[in-house]
Amino acid sequence: MRKFFKWLGIVLGSLIGLIVFAALGLYLSASIRLNKTYSVQAETITIPSDSASIERGKQWVESGACKYCHGDDLAGTAFLEDPMLGKIPARNLTSGKGGVESEFTDADWVRAIRYGINPQGQSLIIMPSSYFYYFSDSDLGDIIAYLKSLPPVDKEWSDPEFTPFGKILVGVGVGNVIETENINYVAVHPPAPTEGVTAVYGEYLVEVSACRMCHGEDLAGDENPPNPAAPAVPGLAAGSEVASWSEAEFIQTIRTGVTPSGRPLTEFMPWTEFRNMTDNQLKAIWLYLNSLSAE
Ligand code: HEC
Ligand code: HEC
Repeated sequence: MRKFFKWLGIVLGSLIGLIVFAALGLYLSASIRLNKTYSVQAETITIPSDSASIERGKQWVESGACKYCHGDDLAGTAFLEDPMLGKIPARNLTSGKGGVESEFTDADWVRAIRYGINPQGQSLIIMPSSYFYYFSDSDLGDIIAYLKSLPPVDKEWSDPEFTPFGKILVGVGVGNVIETENINYVAVHPPAPTEGVTAVYGEYLVEVSACRMCHGEDLAGDENPPNPAAPAVPGLAAGSEVASWSEAEFIQTIRTGVTPSGRPLTEFMPWTEFRNMTDNQLKAIWLYLNSLSAE
């Protein structure tokens, strides 16, 4: 009997040792990946300062996902604050105290939004630059012009920080939160399609609005979204409930936050931002979603 307990002790001890060893490995690899610096030569984009460009930039920001994470005044939100995982605030984008505008050059703005890299050369966390990557030079220029014109709001946030457990999850790859790892730096930046009510332009809008971040890369939905509080995300492509709607029902859903069957959308779907899209933009998205259903 004593022998049995001795062996049990050795087996359990080795198992615990292995688990600790694996966790340590994941922790270390996450730390190395989080601290890695990238040197990417971002395209030089001339940031306009005329009121028409600023107005266009405002329309992009108000109808896109930025405010969903950076808050209505764009001065940032706590975004992820979890005693188990860590603190990843979405930063203050204004020129107030703690805001990036007072620290950023035009090149820093482009590198952050298009390539997910901060001025120190490190990857941004959670910020979905791999989708904003698709913004054309001219649309991105308008967006930055608008952000630079925001009224200053003083709001200071701490630097992003994971707990050791959070780092182990990053090491495992949960949520793909190290944004630089989601971007293909060697690709030639794709030209943007001409604006219009076309499926091709709709695809551009789906891309830059980060619909795929939640609805899945193939828009087939996501049963287990990275945010455990969020409901399962329905698909938007062929075979989904959405594919059975009319164009008018789709537009009505995004504008009112209530589906044709009367189900209200939750706060996990940024419809209060997307409802600011123009009719033509929503029609283009609808055409693109339908082109998927036809396949
Ligand atoms: C899903 C949430 C989310 C969305 C949507 C989002 N951001 Fe962010 N953003 C973040 C987080 C989180 C950070 C902080 C990242 C960090 O500190 O590593 C951030 C950081 C930034 C930064 C600062 C980068 C730096 O070097 O500190 C800029 C600029 C920025 N976002 C612009 C935008 C713009 C413009 C949009 C809309 C086109 C947008 N963000 C949409 C979450 C988001
Ligand atoms: C931050 C995550 C997120 C993003 C980004 C997002 N969605 Fe959603 N969406 C959801 C969630 C979650 C639901 C499930 C409904 C609910 O309970 O809110 C949903 C539901 C929907 C629905 C209703 C589907 C149904 O079957 O009832 C439509 C339509 C939709 N989204 C379209 C879009 C489009 C178009 C985009 C991009 C312009 C987009 N979504 C971007 C999270 C997101």
